[in-house]
Amino acid sequence: MAVALKRALAGALIALTACSPKERAETHPVGAFANATPTALNLRELAWLDPSADALKILSRGRHECIRPAENADLKYLVDIGRVAFQSPMLFGGPAARGGLSCESCHRGGRDNPDFFLAGLSGDAGTADVTSALFSKTREDGVFNPVPIPSLVGVAGKTAFGTQAPAASLDDFIENAVIDEFQGVPPSPAVVDGLSAYIAHLDDAGCAKAPEAKSITADINTARRAIELAGDALTRDDAATADFLVLSAQGRLGRVHERFAGPELYDQRRALERLSRNLAAIRTSLRNGDDARASLAGAMIGAKTIIGDLEQHRRQSLYDVETLRAALGAAGRNADP
Ligand code: HEC
Repeated sequence: MAVALKRALAGALIALTACSPKERAETHPVGAFANATPTALNLRELAWLDPSADALKILSRGRHECIRPAENADLKYLVDIGRVAFQSPMLFGGPAARGGLSCESCHRGGRDNPDFFLAGLSGDAGTADVTSALFSKTREDGVFNPVPIPSLVGVAGKTAFGTQAPAASLDDFIENAVIDEFQGVPPSPAVVDGLSAYIAHLDDAGCAKAPEAKSITADINTARRAIELAGDALTRDDAATADFLVLSAQGRLGRVHERFAGPELYDQRRALERLSRNLAAIRTSLRNGDDARASLAGAMIGAKTIIGDLEQHRRQSLYDVETLRAALGAAGRNADP
C-alpha cells in the first residue's frame, strides 16, 4: 500500500475514533458539513473503501438493491423507513455516526461488500471485526477477529443471527448492533421494525436490472422520500420516528453537499445548507410537540426546487465521472487500476 494511502486511511481512522461516545443526539449534519472547508475530495465513503478497489467505478454508481415489493401499505411504510435507516449514519452514535458509516457501508445494497476495508476493523477486504473497540467498548473482546460481511438476502427466516455476538431474532440482532456495536441511542420501535421488514423483503428475484449511475436527482429524491415518510410518521403520532427521518434526510443532503466541492459551487452548497437548516428548525418544532406536517410538505417542495440548479452544475461536481476521476487522481486514489 502506498504511503500516502496509508496516511489517508490513518487520518480517516482518527476522524472516526476522535469523538466521545453518546454523541448521537448532538450529531448535527448542518454543522458537520456547513463548517467544513470544501476540498476537492471529501467523500466519506473513501474512508472504508479498499485502496485497491476501483474507486471511480464504485463512487460513480448508484445503489443496486434486490427487493420484492411490500404486500400492503403498512408494510411498505415500514420497508421504506427501513431503507432510510439502513443507509443512515444517524442510526449510530459516536465514531460510526461521525465517520458517516451506516448498515449500507458494509452490506452494500443489503448484500456483502468485497470492497469494504477499514484499517483496524478489517483483515482482508470485505471483512469486519464486529467485536472491536473501534466503535464500541461494550463489544470489545480483546481479539482482532474480523469475519466476512455476509449478504442479508434471505436471512430473515433464520433462527440465529451473527456468529460473534449471536442473537435469536432479527429485531434483537439489530438492536444489539445499533446500541452495543455502534453506540447508537435505542431506535424507535418503527425504525427497528422497519429495518427488520426491509431485510425480510430483500430478495434475489427482485433485482433491478443494473446499478444506475449515481444521480443528483435520485439522491435528492431519497432525502425527499425520508421527509415525506416523516409526515406519514406524524400522521401515526410517531414524532420520534419522524425526527429520525428528518435527521436522516439532513444526512443525505450532506452527502450531496460533499459532491459539490469546488469553490465555484458555493451557491449550490448554500442552497443545500439552507434546506438543511430548514430541516433542523422542523426538528426543533417536532421536539416542541408541534404538528410539523405543513413545514415538512414545504421542505419537500423546497428540495424539489433546487434539483434543477444542481443538475445544471453537475459537470463541475463529483457526480460527473471526469471531474471525479480528476479529483481521485489528484488525491492519489486509485481511479484507474
Ligand atoms: C462494519 C461493518 C458492518 C456494519 C456497519 C453493519 N454490519 Fe451487519 N454484519 C457485519 C458482519 C461482519 C457480520 C457477520 C457477523 C457475525 O458473523 O457475527 C454482520 C452480520 C449481520 C447480520 C446477521 C446475518 C446472519 O446471517 O446471521 C444482520 C442481520 C446484519 N448484519 C444486519 C446489519 C444491520 C441492520 C446493520 C445496521 C444497523 C448492520 N448490519 C451494520 C458487518 C457490518
